[in-house]
Amino acid sequence: MFNFDFHNPTHIAFGKGRVADLAKLVPASAKVLILVGGASAEKTGTLAEVRSALGERAHSTFAGIEPNPGFDTAMQAVNQIRSEGFDFLLAVGGGSVIDATKFIAAAVPFEGDPWTILLKGGRNIQSALPFGAVLTLPATGSEMNNGGVITRRDMGAKLPFRSSHVFPRFAVLDPTKTYTLPVQQLANGVVDAFVHTVEQYLTYPSHAPVQDRFAEGLLQTLVEVGPRLLDAKEPVYDDRATLMWAATLALNGLIGAGVPQDWSTHMIGHELTALHNIDHARTLAIVLPAMLHERRVQKRDKLLQYGQRVWGIRSGTEDERIAAAIENTRTFFEHMGIPTRLRDYGLDASVVSAVVAQLESHGMTQLGEHRDIDLAVSRRVLEAAL
Ligand code: NZQ
Ligand code: ZN
Repeated sequence: MFNFDFHNPTHIAFGKGRVADLAKLVPASAKVLILVGGASAEKTGTLAEVRSALGERAHSTFAGIEPNPGFDTAMQAVNQIRSEGFDFLLAVGGGSVIDATKFIAAAVPFEGDPWTILLKGGRNIQSALPFGAVLTLPATGSEMNNGGVITRRDMGAKLPFRSSHVFPRFAVLDPTKTYTLPVQQLANGVVDAFVHTVEQYLTYPSHAPVQDRFAEGLLQTLVEVGPRLLDAKEPVYDDRATLMWAATLALNGLIGAGVPQDWSTHMIGHELTALHNIDHARTLAIVLPAMLHERRVQKRDKLLQYGQRVWGIRSGTEDERIAAAIENTRTFFEHMGIPTRLRDYGLDASVVSAVVAQLESHGMTQLGEHRDIDLAVSRRVLEAAL
């Protein structure tokens, strides 16, 4: 196991009816800007609940944060906060709203051009406004971590940032808030959480059995609960709660502490979203099976462990077991209603060079746990994903 620091300051308020706890979680004297996406928070009644829990506190709402949140939209919020003097932000939504809120929180006090926050991956963030989150879509883990991803549509760029200053102060996780999710967003959530776990687990053995078993437990849980979530005629509270907590734990730093991490699937996936506007989780379902196949030598020991412990694969030669583990992964995504080939999204070989060029321009030339996924390897992965 590698040396590590683990410090996660986000207070989780989990369960039915917990939005009312905003009355205690938000500082009494705060001037609050609530940030939301499109129409969902208003339509589902969550926004009204949030406003009522804020009671007498001065507050206003910024609406219009788009999925894969845009830099320009975030900057509109930054300008409003600077001119109207809000001192606490409250994100109400999924990963996009929370990510945007993180960026906005850091950009408000930032001296200089906030775009450089993204160019430097957040390393130049010195401070941020305090903020909390009310999660409505379990998927990204953004509610309990210090990272975010912002898109600049004019440049076709989708860039990640992280900083210890952008952990949410708290996150309200009420599983009933997921009841209004369209089925494809539920499926996206399962697949995103699954791939987050894989990015931190399926690398090479590093004598970290606790992290391995935690990760395998999350993967098995997602495999078990995912299809049930899709098949249920009515939302089942305990299954929604399971997904919500699994997705949070998949990317709150716990399973990734002290172990090698990959993230190449995510970095290639971000380029596919930036260029072709494919949902984040769907890009992962396209890239991961091809990536695991491409990296079957470097990931051999962990692929065998994954096959045995997550999928119960015990027979066949080692190569056969690895192939079966990768095939089971693909089948699971497909079973969740998420196609795993570029052609399923109307894309053909002509996209490969464009994605590779974007990876190059964003410095994504040494990816993976060994930093040896160069542009040639990424190209092969994309070709295998056609
Ligand atoms: O915009 P509204 O109207 O709110 O609708 C949203 C949006 O259209 C809707 N939605 C959310 N909650 C709902 C709901 N509809 C009905 N009922 C509800 N309760 O769902 C749509 C998608 O929302 P979005 O927030 O975009 O989805 P998600 O949570 O999957 O977030 C994706 C973003 O997070 C980034 C992704 O790259 C992407 O930009 N990620 C952030 C990470 C992090 N911060 O750690 C890690 C991830 O790997 C990921 O990269
Ligand atoms: Zn993700």
